[in-house]
Amino acid sequence: MANKSVWRDNRFWRRSATWITGFASVLLIWLTLDTSAQISMGNDADLTNGVRKRVPGPTVINYKITYEFDAKRGHEVPVIGEKEKFFGRDDYSEEEAAALLHLGKLGVQAKNCMDCHTLLGNGAYYAPDLTKAWLDPAWQDDGPMQAMTNQATKEEAIAMFLQHPDEYPTHARMMPNLGITAKEAKGIVAFLKHMSAIDTNGFPRNFGRMKGAINGK
Ligand code: HEC
Repeated sequence: MANKSVWRDNRFWRRSATWITGFASVLLIWLTLDTSAQISMGNDADLTNGVRKRVPGPTVINYKITYEFDAKRGHEVPVIGEKEKFFGRDDYSEEEAAALLHLGKLGVQAKNCMDCHTLLGNGAYYAPDLTKAWLDPAWQDDGPMQAMTNQATKEEAIAMFLQHPDEYPTHARMMPNLGITAKEAKGIVAFLKHMSAIDTNGFPRNFGRMKGAINGK
């Protein structure tokens, strides 16, 4: 008995199992609570008071969003700037903005964009990642897509593209016409704009594909 190795002692294994299970349970509960707090959506008051939430409230569609390099974190983060008109307005109420996002989300689900695209890490790699599509330089004022779709703003250009992707091919692969209506397109663009404002720890950061395809590089 005196010479029995600890590795062959049942009590040792039983205690180890109890401690490890206990520790893992506490860790998982803590991680779950932390994640819930991190991903809970902000509201309009946060936006007007400059409180930055990882997932901002729906009325973020009233603001300009840019993707800027944060030296401390070592990657780009969405930065919510001054007011910016979205389909001619920058005063969507919380209810209106939420309804628009809801419409967009239903459209994205109904047309199964994830069959080809990736959204927030879920989906396919056939077509460009949509998580930050709103910030894709191709749609900005000096990008080629507003001219190509003959629209004066980014949101109108994306909405036009979504309704007639077959008329504005930019890649070797073409997005098929999915029968998206003007109303649905508006909701989907709001959904894309809101998604681009979510702090995803810099993922994804590469917009080279669309721009490259247009410039022929
Ligand atoms: C059958 C595959 C397929 C489906 C389904 C699809 N797309 Fe696409 N999409 C593509 C391809 C391919 C491209 C790139 C071709 C192009 O730009 O002409 C693209 C490009 C885009 C772009 C431009 C990308 C950028 O960087 O700005 C947006 C925005 C977009 N799709 C949104 C959507 C949305 C929203 C849905 C669902 C309502 C959707 N797509 C469904 C294939 C698809």
